[in-house]
Amino acid sequence: MPNRTFPLNAWYAATWDAELRRELLPRVICNKKMVFYRRADGRAVALEDACWHRLLPLSMGRLEGDEVVCGYHGLVFDPHGRCTHMPSQETINPSACVRTFPVVEKHRFVWVWPGDPALADPTKVPDLHWNDDPEWEGDGKTIRVKCDYRLVIDNLMDLTHETFVHSSSIGNRAVAEAPFEPTHTDRTATITRWMRDIDPPPFWAGQLGKPGKVDRWQIINFEAPCTIAIDVGVAPAGTGAPEGDRSQGVNGFVLNTITPETDRTCHYHWAFVRNHKRNDQRRTTELREGVSRIFREDETILEAQQIAIDENPGHVFYNLNIDAGAMWARRLIDRMIAAEERRPILEAAE
Ligand code: FES
Ligand SMILES: [Fe+2]
Repeated sequence: MPNRTFPLNAWYAATWDAELRRELLPRVICNKKMVFYRRADGRAVALEDACWHRLLPLSMGRLEGDEVVCGYHGLVFDPHGRCTHMPSQETINPSACVRTFPVVEKHRFVWVWPGDPALADPTKVPDLHWNDDPEWEGDGKTIRVKCDYRLVIDNLMDLTHETFVHSSSIGNRAVAEAPFEPTHTDRTATITRWMRDIDPPPFWAGQLGKPGKVDRWQIINFEAPCTIAIDVGVAPAGTGAPEGDRSQGVNGFVLNTITPETDRTCHYHWAFVRNHKRNDQRRTTELREGVSRIFREDETILEAQQIAIDENPGHVFYNLNIDAGAMWARRLIDRMIAAEERRPILEAAE
């Protein structure tokens, strides 16, 4: 197994776009200290958060125009990481620069590429288009979770846990009992689960607003290394949703992208969007807070699980049927890491 737990050549969500302003924002991403800010024209910048001179984090300095002034001895760095001013001397040492990281803004996030800048292709930003698509309405938050980001992915790839962790909102026995189908490509893995003719759990009964049994779906789409878009919804039973006609139902997407901070902490960015009753801000806020409460239940589980894993180094985990999605996700992540390290990957026969 690879030692590194995440690939570096990937786009990671650093922050929500609205949270990046004309001020210095420090973030650790993939164990790298970075400082983010916006230039006067709005463009986002990411620099290494360590001054070339004596390594003081630049985030402890200040933004002046488009440049960062170090808070220790006043060296100034431009958005390309080049030093443009040194106190008490005319000539600037040509090696005085800090690393910059490629950034792009898309789907309401600022994305950063911690790996080889030459490989940073903006077309490879994970697909979270629902976040700013006018057909969809919603909002989200970020949780800093004290666990390996892959534990969050395991959690999302197997929604059986809803039955036990989220029994008061979205969980019911049907989730744990319904069969599911895993499929994959070389960058994606999908788990499709249909629960037909069931009683809707409270969350979905409220969204649908109609009595009676429902057909419920959960289609989990993983895009390596750390983005998961879950297509969820219910429709009155027998109205054709499994065959493709969702017109009688309600549909949402749980959008997740989990950015490794360190090997044991992560920034879990999520949003819940819907395509029904869109012009209802109160519903947007209520849904965001409702999902936020649900995810706090996950946070408790994940942090306890990380502590237990650390207490049991070398513990071997056995995979059950329900772990198929997580196994695929981890296999795709491991392949990305192995490709970066240019070494063959040892995989169980598929
Ligand atoms: S450490 Fe930044 S100017 Fe000296
Ligand atoms: Fe959960």
